[in-house]
Amino acid sequence: MLTDLTPQPPDKILELMQMFREDTRTQKIDLGVGVYKNAEGVTPVMRAVKSAERRLVEEQQTKSYTSLVGDPAFTTALRDLILGDSISADRVAAAGTPGGTGAIRQGLELARYAEAGTTVWVSSPTWPNHLTIVKYLGIPMREYRYFDNATRGVNFDGMLTDLKEAKAGDLVLLHGCCHNPTGANLTKEQWGQVADLLEKTGAVPFVDIAYQGFGDGLDEDAYGVRYLASKMPEMIIAASCSKNFGVYRDRVGLLMAITPNAASHGMAQSTLSFLNRQNYSFPPDHGAKVVQTILDDADLRADWKSELEDVRLGMLSLRQQLAEDLRQRTNSDRFDFIARHRGMFSRTGLSPDQVTALREKHGVYMIGDSRMNVAGLNAETVPVLAAAMVDVGA
Ligand code: LMR
Repeated sequence: MLTDLTPQPPDKILELMQMFREDTRTQKIDLGVGVYKNAEGVTPVMRAVKSAERRLVEEQQTKSYTSLVGDPAFTTALRDLILGDSISADRVAAAGTPGGTGAIRQGLELARYAEAGTTVWVSSPTWPNHLTIVKYLGIPMREYRYFDNATRGVNFDGMLTDLKEAKAGDLVLLHGCCHNPTGANLTKEQWGQVADLLEKTGAVPFVDIAYQGFGDGLDEDAYGVRYLASKMPEMIIAASCSKNFGVYRDRVGLLMAITPNAASHGMAQSTLSFLNRQNYSFPPDHGAKVVQTILDDADLRADWKSELEDVRLGMLSLRQQLAEDLRQRTNSDRFDFIARHRGMFSRTGLSPDQVTALREKHGVYMIGDSRMNVAGLNAETVPVLAAAMVDVGA
């Protein structure tokens, strides 16, 4: 049996992470995997996370099982952070999951379980793991246009035209904010138009929100997901705390299913329990407990928000510096989009050959589709990157 296994294509992001680790050059720059780094190149444990962990060590009395959907105090706290008061809580079923990826996987399983023939619509491009999970689950998939290579913004007309073809009960996977891999995002008006179209077609939004607080702010980044929640009868939401709480390896995620009314909520909630039980029983608790402790304590919450805001502003400033540097070096505004994009990523538009040359000649690691992680830069490496980009012909 096991000798019949065939190799899987490597995940491009994780493959690049490994290549970077193995590169012995000291001047290398990692703009690959979506992990926040400070100016010293360190992914720090956030202050509030450290404090909450200390508190847990002192005060936690048991590590016995929670519930199949995790600690309700966690699901409530994170639900409120994401959805605010956009929707009545008795329409939101929620389950803790191992990270945002776990939430995506469980959300897709939920949709498949509820409606076997559903098609998932994904943005072109999207996070590569969306594609492989959908494929692995055997769910039919279609793409909708999203990114306009010429303007480096959203191809909104193309998006609406394609999504008009979605059928009632299809899932439309949307990035809540900080689109991965492009960095180009919908405006408020555009979220409104997407909601109108979904209402017309009966397709169900599935929002993946993994970077809340990294774009324009905690509430601003939740605008789209909250707007849809206030309008749509049904919706699925997959959320990650990996980035905004910096708890990557602790695997903290949340799956939410919005039902048309409170009466259908119970069935959705018990289905989420059932699905968790089939896959891993109980979701991990440690990171979830840390996040909940922070969100429910006024001082820790304030400290976390202020550190997150520093992270966000730091990335914005790096974007501005890089756009300005490239403006001067290229004597053009071709790279101004870098300052307009939001979140960790920008699709820079370099060709695959240029991306390879950046890596081989300059030790600058970007994903092959030309996605760069802005947080991998600092004030000293911005000019290094800009010079290298110009050197490879950008
Ligand atoms: C990324 O896109 O780089 C991150 O979401 C990390 C990952 O798991 O791929």
